[in-house]
This record gives sequence, structure tokens and C-alpha cells, in this order.
Amino acid sequence: MDGIDIVAASFEPLQLHATLTIPFEQDLKDELMALTLPSDNEIDRMGKADVALAKLIGHGINELIKKNKLERKKIKAIGSHGQTIRHRPEDGFTLQIGDPNIITEITQLPVISDFRRRDMAAGGQGAPLVPAFHQALFQHEQIDRVILNLGGIANVSFLPAGKKENISGFDTGPANVLMDAWCHRHTGHAYDENGDWAANGSPIRALLDRLYSHDFFARKPPKSTGREDFNLDWLDDQISDWRNDELEYEEFEDTPENIQATLAKLTVRAIQKAIYRSGMKNGEVYVCGGGAYNSHILEQLRWRLRKHSWSVQTTDVIGLSPTWVESTAFAWLAMRFDQSMNGNLSAVTGAKGDRILGTITKV
Ligand SMILES: Nc1ncnc2c1ncn2[C@@H]1O[C@H](COP(=O)(O)OP(=O)(O)OP(=O)(O)O)[C@@H](O)[C@H]1O
Ligand SMILES: [Mg+2]
Repeated sequence: MDGIDIVAASFEPLQLHATLTIPFEQDLKDELMALTLPSDNEIDRMGKADVALAKLIGHGINELIKKNKLERKKIKAIGSHGQTIRHRPEDGFTLQIGDPNIITEITQLPVISDFRRRDMAAGGQGAPLVPAFHQALFQHEQIDRVILNLGGIANVSFLPAGKKENISGFDTGPANVLMDAWCHRHTGHAYDENGDWAANGSPIRALLDRLYSHDFFARKPPKSTGREDFNLDWLDDQISDWRNDELEYEEFEDTPENIQATLAKLTVRAIQKAIYRSGMKNGEVYVCGGGAYNSHILEQLRWRLRKHSWSVQTTDVIGLSPTWVESTAFAWLAMRFDQSMNGNLSAVTGAKGDRILGTITKV
């Protein structure tokens, strides 16, 4: 929820022709954030955000085309994920906004969108959808690999060496969503640059255990989560329970830095456990998403995974910048739609079968 990432990509072999990020203005960001939780007059507000976001996406694409002198007629389609404002797999629905009709009007290009609902209709989580792309691009014949995306939420793709069928993947829990919110409240910055602020603190054991006792962590995959589960209100409740617990509470521990360090450790702990439980004994972890620039998290991960001699690096090392993995994945999913091929992996999402994902808005 920091902005819109746009790539112009072609495949086989993968090539990125142009990239652009359009940061959200604070007002739109606040509104999108607010829409992730129940509140007043949601339908009108969602409608307005749907239009505002679509305009930003459409004009952003035009800007990318113009700046890089791309030939519009060479662009087969736009794959537009949109912004998730609600994700409730337990109730069978997920909602991404950013009206494709408007994007097509502005760009005069076909738009493939709504990637998640078909998988849900088939009984899946509708997430994560990136593992099929990770597999196509990053699976290795001899080395076990884990692709770890650190966006708002953290998700893993397990790619055991050479085994085309045995891919798994799921959300492990929060990545930046809580750290960003906490950092913004206490420092005024949108995020903790490099994780330096967290690195100054020490994790609070009792609070960490409390946070980790959220049901989501114990649940078996397939599983996916979002801001509905992990948000500042939830965190505040946990902190206040801890403060009220005479046996656990230590006043000297109660500093904003220490809480940030605890949130970083929560992310790392969930990822470490997921990797240890994966059955893969050692190999390579490649990190993408904005959290790949959080050196504190990467150092913690290296330390936690050292016993099994996992290496931890960013996807830069294997040819794709961490910033562009997700957006490229949705260009790839649009290509799969165009070729009438599945986008989900049913073993990952829990759907009844592999499905072609998306709908098209034609010019
Ligand atoms: N230099 C940095 N140091 C620490 N964290 C960073 C840095 N750069 C980006 N980030 C983090 O990455 C986030 C943006 O990453 P990304 O775009 O992958 O997340 P997102 O848009 O929330 O993702 P998603 O929608 O996939 O959950 C920022 O909100 C911030 O938390
Ligand atoms: Mg982003």
C-alpha cells in the first residue's frame, strides 16, 4: 500500500523493458487503508476509491509508455492486480479495486484483472498467486529454493530442487504491515529505513509470545491473511493485555524501539518456522518485495537459519530486482490468461483444481 508498481515485461526469456512506481498521495493511502476494515458508508467510499485508483493506474501506464517510448501496439495486454481492500477466504470472498473499464478507456489497451476470485470460487484461498511464477522463473534442478516476498504480508514459495509437482506456498503472517504502522505512529516515517530503528531495540519475549499466539500462526497451510487479521488495533490490544499482566510486564522493556524489534522478530520467527517445517534441509532463500531492503530482517533471518546453512539473499542475485517481482508476476499471470493456462497452483491455494485466472476488458 505504498504505491502502484508498473512494469512492461515480455517472457521467455524474461525481459523488463520499463518500470515505474507511482506513490500514493497520503489521502488515497489513508482511504485505502481505512477500507480494509469495516466502517461507515463503505459502498460509496469504495466506489470513489475504485475510480481514483483506476485513473492513477491508467495514467501511470500512459506515463510509462510515453517516458520509455514504448510502442503501444506491441503491448498485448495489461495485467492489473488492483488494491486488495478486503480478503476473507473463510467467507469465500476477496476484493481488489481499481476499475479495469477506466484503465482500458485511459490506455486504449485490454486489461486483464480480477485474478483471485476464480480460485476462491473453486474453494481456494485466492492467494498466494505468485508461486507459479516463482516456479517458472526460479526453480533450480539441484538446489532447493525458497522465494520470500516481504510486502505488507509475508509469503513463501517452496521450490524443491527439480520436483515440478511439489511446489507449496502460503502466507506466513505480517511483514511490513505492523512495522510500518508502528513506525509511522512513533517516528512519523512511513517505514523503518533498513530496519535501523528496530535494530536499536531488543525484542520483548513476553510480548512476542503473545503476538505469536494469534491463531493464524498455528494454522496449517493452505492459508492466507491480510490487514483484517493484523492491524494496529489488534497490536494495541495485545500491547495493552501485556501491560495489564502483572507477571509478564516489565516497564523497562516498554519502549517503542523494543516493540518495533519485537514486530521484526515476529516476522522472522514465522518465516523461520515455515522453512524448518517445509522438509527441505538446506538451500537458498531469495527475498523480494520492499522488505528485501530491510537489512535488519535479512540479518535476523540469516542468523536464525544458520543451523541448516540456508543462504539468504535478495532476488537481485537471480536476475530480478526485489522491487519488480510482484508486478512482473501479474504481467506473467496476464500472459497465462491470454494463453488459456492456469495461474493458480491448486496445491498452494487449496482450490479444487488449477484454473485460468482473470477476466478481460477489451478495447
Ligand atoms: N529501504 C527500506 N528499508 C526498510 N523497509 C523498506 C525499504 N524500502 C521499502 N521497504 C518496505 O517495503 C514496503 C513496500 O514494499 P512492497 O511494495 O513490496 O509492499 P506492499 O505494497 O505493501 O506489498 P503488498 O501489496 O504486496 O503486500 C514499504 O512499506 C516498507 O515497509
Ligand atoms: Mg507496494
